[in-house]
Order: sequence, then structure tokens, then C-alpha cells
Amino acid sequence: MTAGKIRIVTAFWFSATGTTRKVCETVARAAAAALEAEYASRSFNAPESRKQEYRFGPDELVAFGLPTYAGRIPNLMLPFVRDCVKGERTPAVPVVLYGNRDFDDALIELRDVLAGNGFVPIAAGAFVGEHAFSRTLGAGRPDAEDLREAEGLAALAAKRIRVSEKEGLPERPVEVAGCEPLRPYYTPRDRFGGPIDIRKVKPKTDPERCVRCGLCAAVCPMGSIDPEDVSAVTGVCIKCCACVKRCPNGAKYFDDEGWLYHRSELEELYGDKRAENRCF
Ligand SMILES: Cc1cc2nc3c(=O)[nH]c(=O)nc-3n(C[C@H](O)[C@H](O)[C@H](O)COP(=O)(O)O)c2cc1C
Ligand code: SF4
Ligand code: SF4
Repeated sequence: MTAGKIRIVTAFWFSATGTTRKVCETVARAAAAALEAEYASRSFNAPESRKQEYRFGPDELVAFGLPTYAGRIPNLMLPFVRDCVKGERTPAVPVVLYGNRDFDDALIELRDVLAGNGFVPIAAGAFVGEHAFSRTLGAGRPDAEDLREAEGLAALAAKRIRVSEKEGLPERPVEVAGCEPLRPYYTPRDRFGGPIDIRKVKPKTDPERCVRCGLCAAVCPMGSIDPEDVSAVTGVCIKCCACVKRCPNGAKYFDDEGWLYHRSELEELYGDKRAENRCF
């Protein structure tokens, strides 16, 4: 069966520190232009936005963006993506961002979840963004060169859509890098090789710097910062660093020893290289 014309291209993303958003929107905007379709952007950052279902039709193309956390897609976003986002043989472009280390199995995991939900992944990409934990690891990325490559991914997706208008959508999802079965979540290690467990770690607030503007509470994707007392993290913290990077006064920080060790090790091991974007 041939596929019809694409009416609208949507960037659909979770992006705590904004890098996934940039790449995903670039891909969707460029694909919309190439396909002479409408462009839209929708976020599922806010906890309330993940309490509803999203359905995309066969005349839509979705650039679906998530960051890599521990070599996979963020585990606390998985139930939403798996249960609340449905396609109807909707072509999709899975996009993951990673912080200059590796995206490991994040892209293959996202591709497979989408394929299981009625989407047809026709092209995919892994791009580099400044690491959420650091100001030096992948600093400033995605930059202009990265966004040009994101436009290249859009051109590839648009070309495949044009082919599908004559030949139908492919039966198999696009081949991407990663392992199946999926490998376990990446575990940071201490200097003796023991695992570092940062799951319970939460950010602190410097009372000298905090002006109680409430921005951190507004941007926390878990809704875990008490707006009445922003020093209180009352719920789960996914270490996304939205509060740390977006506080205008540098008042939010992590001081956990294991977390700091992990960050310095990442900066030491991966700080000098410019990791590559990959398009499939
Ligand atoms: C909890 C956590 C785990 C991460 N794990 C990885 C990883 O395994 N590999 C990697 O290269 N980057 C990793 N990163 C970095 C993010 O993938 C990177 O900062 C990404 O650009 C964040 O996307 P965002 O700006 O859309 O939030 C991790 C970041 C966080 C917060
Ligand atoms: S964003 Fe920064 S200054 Fe504003 S309330 Fe949060 S910690 Fe305080
Ligand atoms: S408290 Fe945790 S989950 Fe919330 S914004 Fe800060 S780092 Fe992210």
C-alpha cells in the first residue's frame, strides 16, 4: 500500500536542559519545509503533559526526541512513551541526544518502543548535546555544525517519505546502532571499580544565591521541587539538571561525593574528544 502525503510534522520531545529540543525541532522544521507540510512542536517535560494520551495519524511525521540516560532512554519516561503515545502506521524519526560519552542502546530502545506503538521508524539519529552534569563535556553542543547534520537527517527522512508515497512504508524499522537484547543501564564506577549509586541523590540550594524566583520548581520535569520552599526536593529526582542549569543565580548544585566523582571521571575520559552524531 502506498503512503499518502504528510500533512504535519511534529517535534515531540522531552528535554530537561534543552539539547534534545534543539535537535528535534531542527529535524522536524527542516522535514516540514522539505515536505511542504505544517510544523508543530510539543513537549512532554511537564508532569501534567504526561497524564494524557497522544495519537498521531498516518498523514503525520513525528520527530521523537529523548536524551540518553545511563545508556538507555530515561527509565522514568519509559512508561509514558510506551503506554501513552500511539501511532497509526505513522512515520517517525527517533532522535536521542547524548553527552559525549555514548548513546549505547538508547536509540534502539526508542526505535523499538515506537515500532511497538504503531509508528514506522523510517530514519533515526543520535546527536551530541552538552552533558547535563557538566559545563565542559560536549560544551555548547548541539552547535551550528550539529544542527546542519540534523537538517541532513531531515532531508534523509523526507527522501524516504517521498519513496513511500510510491512504494509504501518499509515493513521493517530503520537499522540503528545498539544491542539486542538491550544491555543493562550503564553503571558509574568508583576508583575501586565498585558501583556508584546516585539514584537517591538530590540537588542542594545555596541560600546566599537563591532569590526564590521559583524557576527551578517550574522547570523540574518531575514536579519534585516545592515552590513554597525551593530547597525542599519532595519527590523523585532524575538528576536531569534542569534546576542546576537553568537557575539564573547558580544556586542549585550537587555535592554528593559519588556524583562528583562520576562527573570528574566523565570529564577526564571524554572531555577531549568531539563525539560524532550518527544518522541512520
Ligand atoms: C541521569 C543522566 C544520565 C546520563 N547518561 C548518559 C550516558 O549514558 N551517556 C551519555 O553520553 N550522556 C549521558 N547523559 C547526558 C545526556 O544524554 C545529555 O546531557 C543530553 O544532551 C541531555 O538532553 P536534554 O538537554 O534534552 O535534557 C546523561 C544525563 C543524565 C541527566
Ligand atoms: S531558580 Fe535558583 S534562584 Fe530561582 S528559586 Fe530556584 S534556586 Fe532559587
Ligand atoms: S530536582 Fe532533580 S529532577 Fe527536578 S529539575 Fe532538579 S535535577 Fe531535575
